[in-house]
Amino acid sequence: MASRDKLKNDTASGLSPTSVPLPPLSRRWYWKILVATIALSFVAYQVTRQEDHVLTTYALCSSGGANIYTVDENNTSVECVLIHNSRIVDTGDLASIRQRCNTTTGLTSVAVRYAPTGSIIIPGMSDSHCHILEYGASRQIPLSEGKTVEKTVSFVRDYILGNADLEGNKSRVIEGWGWDHASWGVEKMPSWEDLEADPIIAGRPVILQSRDGHALWVSQRTLAENAPFPDTIEGGVIMRDKAGNPTGVFMDSAQDLIAQPALTEEDLTRRFQRTVADALAAGLVSLHDAGFKPDSLAFFKRQSEIKLLPLRIYGMTYFDEYGHYWGDQITPFAGAADERLSARSVKIFADGALRTGGAALYEPYSDNPSTNGAMRISAEVLNSVIPRFLQDGWQVNVHAIGDRANGIVLDAFEHALQGVNVSALRPRLEHAQIMTKEDMNRLGKLGVIASIQPTHAISDMWFAQARLGPERVETLYAFRGILDSGARITLGSDFPVEDINPLKGFYAAVTRLSTENTSPHGPNGWFPEQRLTRLEALRGMTIDAAYASFTENTLGSLTIGKRADITILSQDIMSVAADKILDTKVLATIIDGCVVYGQL
Ligand SMILES: *[C@@H]1O[C@H](CO)[C@@H](O)[C@H](O)[C@H]1NC(C)=O
Ligand SMILES: *[C@@H]1O[C@H](CO)[C@@H](O)[C@H](O)[C@H]1NC(C)=O
Ligand SMILES: *[C@@H]1O[C@H](CO)[C@@H](O)[C@H](O)[C@H]1NC(C)=O
Ligand SMILES: *[C@@H]1O[C@H](CO)[C@@H](O)[C@H](O)[C@H]1NC(C)=O
Ligand SMILES: *[C@@H]1O[C@H](CO)[C@@H](O)[C@H](O)[C@H]1NC(C)=O
Repeated sequence: MASRDKLKNDTASGLSPTSVPLPPLSRRWYWKILVATIALSFVAYQVTRQEDHVLTTYALCSSGGANIYTVDENNTSVECVLIHNSRIVDTGDLASIRQRCNTTTGLTSVAVRYAPTGSIIIPGMSDSHCHILEYGASRQIPLSEGKTVEKTVSFVRDYILGNADLEGNKSRVIEGWGWDHASWGVEKMPSWEDLEADPIIAGRPVILQSRDGHALWVSQRTLAENAPFPDTIEGGVIMRDKAGNPTGVFMDSAQDLIAQPALTEEDLTRRFQRTVADALAAGLVSLHDAGFKPDSLAFFKRQSEIKLLPLRIYGMTYFDEYGHYWGDQITPFAGAADERLSARSVKIFADGALRTGGAALYEPYSDNPSTNGAMRISAEVLNSVIPRFLQDGWQVNVHAIGDRANGIVLDAFEHALQGVNVSALRPRLEHAQIMTKEDMNRLGKLGVIASIQPTHAISDMWFAQARLGPERVETLYAFRGILDSGARITLGSDFPVEDINPLKGFYAAVTRLSTENTSPHGPNGWFPEQRLTRLEALRGMTIDAAYASFTENTLGSLTIGKRADITILSQDIMSVAADKILDTKVLATIIDGCVVYGQL
């Protein structure tokens, strides 16, 4: 960081150039000075470029009006924010900021940066539910783009052929993420035979994660290496053919039957850097990682010890339903002074996903009456561990998708929260997708946060009614119903399950339309009465996400005293026509006052 004196000098010379009268010079001196001046200005230029990165005091202003959406109730839009030593120290119009700058910063003048005309400035965006290292892994093979099983398999082949180290060693495990049989036109699960049909892939160990993260598709060799398998497994499904042999698909807790290769530090770093680059480019400053494997949390801690983490990570530590209770052995980590990493919440899986039919429902699936889905954890275990985690100071975040899973988890919360200050604990339902009206009301009454993913709604709206039937589907992604119950929400994408772009979530929340502006209910959106307002959606990505991670006093709005985490967008998402929202570009992402993507 530059010292205050240095900044004083730089800003003084930068903002108020003084003209010094020059004495007459000889030609020789003239040239010497000219050359020296050019050399010096090059040095000065470089200093300025560096200053751009470490600039610690500047007023950031919108061109042409108060286009800064602060998400602060008291000052909803302002013309400028004054940033000093990573904090916002003043807001208002430039003249008054300048007048007060001697008291707010101790400096006599400040540098000014203008965001381009038409752009807007908002608090840095958060994703409240995502999978950081899994996203990085998912970028290795573009499985989600495969629209048939053959095409998906061909991406695996291309990946092998494109990596000499993999191609040359048939024992190396091929890993990928993102296949989606629901997008293949035929409702059929893949099998090991689809992989074996390709001569390049045949004979190799292959482990492919489904797009929703709830199923693994593996090759014949991987099956053989992990055999024998139990006949059944609680909370999971081993897909079998008519003869009873595993077909190579393992759902929900059955995924644990497949041993995954240990990741090297290099693997982890490559995945992490890929995610960070894409997140910052999408305007994200803060990620709530939904389910650290113990080794990913350890990795993030190691990274944060080597150097400042490149963005903020709010981690949920995975509770393995077969494991032992650990809430009293680990101390919740609320974050170091830099507020880049914290791990004070636990993630528990109650059920599976709607897409793969693993969500636990009260009544059978409408398109498959033989099943109600499955709980991955029993009510008894939930009732025993949730109060203990809360007592030991952990925020408890439970993945619950089906109405039955949500009901059982709310029962456990209701019991655990008796006589407890809920705003000190802030339990969350991750997804909260299908909820009875009674449970929605209970959510509001108990003070439980609904962590929702609007892009799931526009992905699932095409098959949801077939799966749930015409009545129950009204309680799926009923965002307005949740808010009306008085519950707090927070928004996320679940990347890599969905796109990392938070504006896609914003668009989905306010339109309930596909990215092609269509829906099963026409151009006003799928169940349009459940749309969020733009302000609700903006809050859900900023101040509400801060509340859901106990950081509303330092993050989530452009308020005096808070950290200068800012996103600059190319156009006004709060007023532009809805079908233009997705044309918005991220011009800059700023964390602690430093530009980490784009430019000012
Ligand atoms: C708004 O201002 C009032 C009065 O100054 C204060 O009590 C309240 O906490 C402020 N709200 C926020 C969100 O800062
Ligand atoms: C809004 O911000 C200005 C500083 O720019 C401050 O003087 C004023 O009190 C704030 N308004 C409210 C209602 O807090
Ligand atoms: C800051 O400057 C204003 C005028 O620009 C002056 O009235 C005020 O006394 C100064 N405050 C300090 C603490 O120097
Ligand atoms: C091939 O890969 C396996 C598994 O990663 C490894 O154990 C083995 O040493 C590799 N063989 C060669 C020749 O590199
Ligand atoms: C409840 O917890 C919140 C957040 O920690 C705190 O601000 C509030 O004072 C607490 N309320 C009571 C009644 O203890």
